[in-house]
Amino acid sequence: MSQSMQQDSKPVIELKDVKVYHRARTGGLFRPNIVKAVDGVDFTISRGETVGIVGESGCGKSTLASVLVGLQTPTSGEVLFHGKPAIKRNAHMRKAFGRSVSVVFQDPATALNPRMTIQDILTDPLQIHGIGNAASRAAKVKELLALVGLPQSAAEVTPSQVSGGQRQRVAIARALALDPDIIVADEPTSALDVSVRAQVLNLLSDLKTQLNLGMVFISHDIQTVRYVSDRICVMYFGKIVEQGTASQVFDNPSNDYTKKLLGAAPSLLHI
Ligand SMILES: Nc1ncnc2c1ncn2[C@@H]1O[C@H](COP(=O)(O)OP(=O)(O)OP(=O)(O)O)[C@@H](O)[C@H]1O
Ligand SMILES: [Mg+2]
Repeated sequence: MSQSMQQDSKPVIELKDVKVYHRARTGGLFRPNIVKAVDGVDFTISRGETVGIVGESGCGKSTLASVLVGLQTPTSGEVLFHGKPAIKRNAHMRKAFGRSVSVVFQDPATALNPRMTIQDILTDPLQIHGIGNAASRAAKVKELLALVGLPQSAAEVTPSQVSGGQRQRVAIARALALDPDIIVADEPTSALDVSVRAQVLNLLSDLKTQLNLGMVFISHDIQTVRYVSDRICVMYFGKIVEQGTASQVFDNPSNDYTKKLLGAAPSLLHI
């Protein structure tokens, strides 16, 4: 399945009426304030498509991302993985889910272990999942480095010895190590220097095409989202308030909040 280069329109993950509620610190013991981080979201992601999620800070983008990658169990609602309920306690499914869906975080400096060499960082997921032997893993590391445009010599150094943009390439390579179906990228360029943002964005977009990945691309910068996405979801206070192709959302925003977001956002990306 992971190796398939066929366009597969069936969703890899489907969320149905997913809610994630938190008890806020400001609430009292008997009258807790509830934060509705995600509040009734329906969402699908399939191979071969890039779905952008955009919305202001605190609207629930990262919470939605953690549900998608299986790090957060919803308060209510359903998470389907290849059409079947993704039940957390089932070890087999957890492993399959972990292989199929991977994540790239905002800040590669904290997402990568600073004491491991890049070789070890990229070998780690293969070892955890018991894939291949020493020789095939070494070959896979070479392939991954080439895929993300890093020199082979990067294998021997630690993340702090490469540039910020290169570190994010390492994080992307690690996310690709298990041949996933889906990559969830949560603000993957916001921690990077402006000069390398476009390169990393282009890399993600090329990889998506080359590997027929499904990609969930999260950003508060609507111009960046537009640049990479086939479909855009606008989130506002935990809900998806608008959904459509990039041109539908941009040329014909139906929601007042979307209009505001479009008017307010100068692009942080210079391309
Ligand atoms: N563990 C938690 N406990 C309480 N509230 C939480 C928790 N995690 C998230 N929240 C709240 O849920 C809401 C959504 O947070 P989330 O991080 O998903 O937003 P976001 O859209 O990713 O924001 P940003 O653009 O700043 O990254 C926020 O109001 C946040 O304070
Ligand atoms: Mg976030």
